[in-house]
Amino acid sequence: MGVSRGGFSSRIGFIMAAAGSAVGLGNIWGFPTQTASNGGAAFVLVYLVLAFCLAYPAFMAELLIGRYGQANAVTSLQKMSHKLWQKRFAFIVGFGGIICAALILSFYGILAGWMMSYAIEPLAKLMGFNEVAQWLVDQSLIRNLAFTAFFMLLTIFIIRRGVEEGIEKWSKRLMPMLIALLILLIIYVVTLDGALEGLNAYLNPDFSRVLEPDLLISALGQAFFSLSLGTSVMVIYGSYISKKEDLVSLGAQVTLIDVSIAFLAGLLIIPAMYVAQAQGVAIFAEDGSLISGSSLVFTVLPSLFDGMGAVGLFVGFGFFVLMTIAALTSSISMLEGPVSYAVERHDIERTKATTFIGLGILALSVIIVLNIEFMLDLVAIISTQYGQPIIAMLCSIFVGWIWHRNSLLAEIKQGHENIENTLFWKIWPWYVKYICPTAIAIVFLHSL
Ligand code: PFF
Repeated sequence: MGVSRGGFSSRIGFIMAAAGSAVGLGNIWGFPTQTASNGGAAFVLVYLVLAFCLAYPAFMAELLIGRYGQANAVTSLQKMSHKLWQKRFAFIVGFGGIICAALILSFYGILAGWMMSYAIEPLAKLMGFNEVAQWLVDQSLIRNLAFTAFFMLLTIFIIRRGVEEGIEKWSKRLMPMLIALLILLIIYVVTLDGALEGLNAYLNPDFSRVLEPDLLISALGQAFFSLSLGTSVMVIYGSYISKKEDLVSLGAQVTLIDVSIAFLAGLLIIPAMYVAQAQGVAIFAEDGSLISGSSLVFTVLPSLFDGMGAVGLFVGFGFFVLMTIAALTSSISMLEGPVSYAVERHDIERTKATTFIGLGILALSVIIVLNIEFMLDLVAIISTQYGQPIIAMLCSIFVGWIWHRNSLLAEIKQGHENIENTLFWKIWPWYVKYICPTAIAIVFLHSL
């Protein structure tokens, strides 16, 4: 771990930070929403299989690139390259990931801003400021601009403080809060009328749907988004881990936490929808499918909280604080990708680089907010449906085909002397060379 560039001070620090990046709106909003629109438990089943069989190996590739290079994504990839074309290719892949992270942050910050305004709304109601409360939940330009800026400033504030004092410290504070809030909300919601029906819809798979192409594509996209792949983020987090740590098991633990929290979020949201239905809220769209997307979070759930009376104010507050925390631990990781690049490659001071890049991304968010109808979806699609799978695939190709095999194996061995007896050692190098790029390419081309 380079002293001057900082790093995680402990295993738990890394686990919390990487899980913080992975666990975000994708888990608590995206996963239950996709589950609702893709046939319930069948989607959950496919997601679990793809997360462990495809996303985890690709995730390990990115962590290993970073730990080997001990530097930002571009420098790390270039350290593995020997020929000039490989160095250029390394630049394209590394820089592509950094751009992808910045693009994701530009729209993610807007969604996170909505979560913050919805979190403050119950407080405004409690204090009797009903007009303010209404303003907070109505779509308006000023509200969107104000809360996006507020959220981005929080992100900048944490990243300016660096890896240990910023990312690690805040992830260690926020992640336990997130897990506690999630569990408390589940315990409360499953005791309400209608929740059992929701649990049934969530946990009983309709096996006939598991091979549907649309379902497979959505599940893989969700798994990649959730593990923050193809964005340079896991490369840079990998670079902050000491060579003494067993990366293979750390990566597995982070994947497990990520998948478990998505699963838990489903246990909250799907039953909550059926509880809302029991209270007279419409949860099915006209075509008979469960309501998903933004209407689920901003219409169905708030109606449910409203129907609960005074308790609903606290439950609604808890829920949107949960969303905000999840978004914040992810957004800091997205900003760290470009910032580490600027600091290490262009020798810019960290605080300056953070402020400058953070405000640049905020400017992009403002442009999106001003053209929200067509730009929000466009930027989300370009970065998550195209950018992430392509960059993640190129990272696997890099590890499988360009990185010298002996050097790759030596890196896997760091921190895990007996790894030669494990399945990971026997399968993964081959898997990341052939299976990961092919499978990602097939699913990606199919989605076009
Ligand atoms: N993994 C985050 C989520 O599930 O919400 C989103 C994310 C974080 C995507 C960081 C990309 C990234 F670089």
